[in-house]
Amino acid sequence: MNALASLNDLDPQYPLPRIYDFLAQPENSEMLDYVFRDPFGCHVFPGDIPRYPLANFFADMEKDIRAAKHIHLWAYIPTCRYRCHFCQYPTVILNPAAPSSQQVFTDVVDLNIKEAQMWLERIPSLAHAEVGEFNIFGGTPSLLPEAELRRLMAFYRQHFNFSQATLRFEGEPGSLGKPYLRVLKELGFSKISFGAQSFDDRIITACGRQHSAAECVETINNARDIGLEWVSVDLIYGMLGQSVSDVQADMEKALQLALSHIVCTKLHMEEFMKTRTGVSGDRASLWQKKGLIDINNMSFPGLGKQYQMRELVEKYLNPGYVEHPTMYFHQQHRPAEKWKAIITDLDQQYPEVAIGMGGSSKCTRSEAINITNFKSYKEALNNDCLPIEESRGISPHLREVNAFKMALSTLIPVDDAVFRQRFGGKSFMDNPSIKQTLEKMARKNLLTVKEGLVTLTPNGVTLVEAIINTQFDITGASEA
Ligand SMILES: C[S@@+](CC[C@H](N)C(=O)[O-])C[C@H]1O[C@@H](n2cnc3c(N)ncnc32)[C@H](O)[C@@H]1O
Ligand code: SF4
Repeated sequence: MNALASLNDLDPQYPLPRIYDFLAQPENSEMLDYVFRDPFGCHVFPGDIPRYPLANFFADMEKDIRAAKHIHLWAYIPTCRYRCHFCQYPTVILNPAAPSSQQVFTDVVDLNIKEAQMWLERIPSLAHAEVGEFNIFGGTPSLLPEAELRRLMAFYRQHFNFSQATLRFEGEPGSLGKPYLRVLKELGFSKISFGAQSFDDRIITACGRQHSAAECVETINNARDIGLEWVSVDLIYGMLGQSVSDVQADMEKALQLALSHIVCTKLHMEEFMKTRTGVSGDRASLWQKKGLIDINNMSFPGLGKQYQMRELVEKYLNPGYVEHPTMYFHQQHRPAEKWKAIITDLDQQYPEVAIGMGGSSKCTRSEAINITNFKSYKEALNNDCLPIEESRGISPHLREVNAFKMALSTLIPVDDAVFRQRFGGKSFMDNPSIKQTLEKMARKNLLTVKEGLVTLTPNGVTLVEAIINTQFDITGASEA
């Protein structure tokens, strides 16, 4: 199916999506092609100087961490008990109950601690920097046996400055029972997050997951019972067998559950490694390998239906929720995700340090991505090498463009006064690439520029990923 045919795959029971006319116009084919290929590109802003020396990267991190109010620190635990059909994340699949798995968990924690010690040696300010939020991401960290989780947390608490940190933990509903949630609370976690993907068992099963919608609801209720009010649930739209009305049912359920935070992502099929996500992709997902083919009389909804789904998400979650950044919704009376704000809000954009397989760490001047393969990751650490696969620098031109793009991704109006504070009085309009893009996007009614404030229009909000990834000249050629 080509992009236009996919856009024309619509559910007649629902209104034509607002974005349809814009994407159907031939002059907007670049954006249509982008959203059709559908990479996961909005939450990473890669550097432009390849093979950046690691010594320079650590010096940049040291400098930025010293100047930062706080940082985002995270540990990545790659273990999972099955592999979902959409997932490309670096995972180690195991049966958590098998005796042989206990050694894997011990290894994962040992390796993570060893890597963290190496980061602490190379970046001296890291030990004192105020951690704004500490996340344990996965994979499925909730598979870690309690003793291993306690060992990991004891290390982090002892070696990093958690005096002002909020602690957030990612799990999977089938392994986040009440006793485990109690341990998390006792260890100081106040936020949990997990993937439900859908509240429909048929859809959950079709994407290869081995938990039920009832377990998701039970996890939410259990978390609340023990005083964990901050529960963020991941939902995906565009999956195998999913209809527009299925997404409507998911939204009704989400509202009924009064979730504090919801992440609603369009199914991403493009290879993660091409654009990279926060955690770099490892290998193709099952759905990528097979292509978008019908399975058991189920098919994948096209782009038109996906935008009908996205409109339903907006309809249900506005006005009770605020989207900040794109795809991340929080209840209006609660704050946005702290870690996201730390790394993307224009008045922050502080460093991020990621410890574990596939993690990516960055500051304003450079970034480094870890190895995504478990065997190679282990080998590197066993040879006393930091498991960094790639490091890139960020040129002065790109620093401004990236700062602007990150700010745009938050969906908060981008304020030139804040930009000037960041860049020695320079306006974003002084950067020819940003200026050109803003003028073009304003002509297309995707944003407005008024009194130093850039505000996305509703169509701009829907297409923010495409704007960020197709409309900026990142080479600085337009400066010449
Ligand atoms: C890496 S998972 C970690 C959470 C936990 N392992 C779980 O699945 O419950 C984080 C989230 O990324 C999202 N995700 C992963 N692959 C995706 C894809 N191809 N397209 C859209 N979202 C995806 C899913 O919603 C998933 O819950
Ligand atoms: S989505 Fe979560 S549970 Fe599924 S394979 Fe990926 S990391 Fe593991």
